[in-house]
Amino acid sequence: MPDQDTWNIFSKIKGNLANINQNNIIESILKLRQLSVTRSGVKVVEKVSFDITKGEFVGLVGPNGGGKTTLLLTILGVLKPSSGSLLVYGHKPASSQNLGKVAWVPQTGANIPRHIHITVRELIRLGTINRSNFFFRTGKSGTGRVNKAIEMVGLEDFADVDVLRLSGGQLQRAVIGRALASESDFIVLDEPLVGVDRAAKNSILRLLDDLCHDHGKTILMVSHDLAAISQTAHRIIYLEGEVQFDGPSSKIPDLNELASIRGIQNPHAMKSRRTPIVHIKRE
Ligand SMILES: Nc1ncnc2c1ncn2[C@@H]1O[C@H](COP(=O)(O)OP(=O)(O)O)[C@@H](O)[C@H]1O
Ligand SMILES: [Mg+2]
Repeated sequence: MPDQDTWNIFSKIKGNLANINQNNIIESILKLRQLSVTRSGVKVVEKVSFDITKGEFVGLVGPNGGGKTTLLLTILGVLKPSSGSLLVYGHKPASSQNLGKVAWVPQTGANIPRHIHITVRELIRLGTINRSNFFFRTGKSGTGRVNKAIEMVGLEDFADVDVLRLSGGQLQRAVIGRALASESDFIVLDEPLVGVDRAAKNSILRLLDDLCHDHGKTILMVSHDLAAISQTAHRIIYLEGEVQFDGPSSKIPDLNELASIRGIQNPHAMKSRRTPIVHIKRE
């Protein structure tokens, strides 16, 4: 029999664990371990390990060609890892258990057909289609989800407007609305701020922040706009093949420190000044 003190400690730990589970504090959304991805024989993502837990807003930054999109496509189950492991909600990415749990928001309008006319409401309704209801109407609950998504992205006044008539920022909101209508809890965005003006950029970031804080969504967002994303995301991961930095947005190193993390001791002493030391676009 354990003595009273040991017993008290056991009880306390057990109580804490119960609390953690009850409040979903440590619900794991994403778990990457030594994940590598090869494309056309070249390793573009190398031994990447990190976790994302429920409610986090993570910004994924890095130079062009650093492997950000490749990593997102692997998380979505489109590309296969060449080694290492990757669990989404505790399962392999493309497994049936993950159906409808992860939503993808591409760069502005990237997959909006330009030759057919579609209204904002119709575009957002597309988000309610999944494998289980593909041949059936989405029904009342689907309509409710569409209306709620339109409201969440603030496009009530544009619901019946053709998407081709929207501004870049409004179109991006509509695409985020489509992801919200799917009711996925994990939203993955690839460069959603490209091609939108400063005001629209701010309102999209505010929307994402609200989704995280008020609606319990988990967000992984790729952006080259370090200034914008580090103001909103809780955590920044800097990817350049490998993870070069992973920490709170407030601790993101400045350009010189990043250069030194990457093994470049004195960037200003480099012979070729034409080559950018760190390819991060700052506003
Ligand atoms: N379809 C592809 N086939 C082969 N290589 C690719 C393909 N797409 C991207 N790459 C290469 O993979 C690397 C990472 O690309 P990507 O993931 O798109 O980077 P990022 O999104 O950070 O700009 C780049 O060197 C790119 O040339
Ligand atoms: Mg990319």
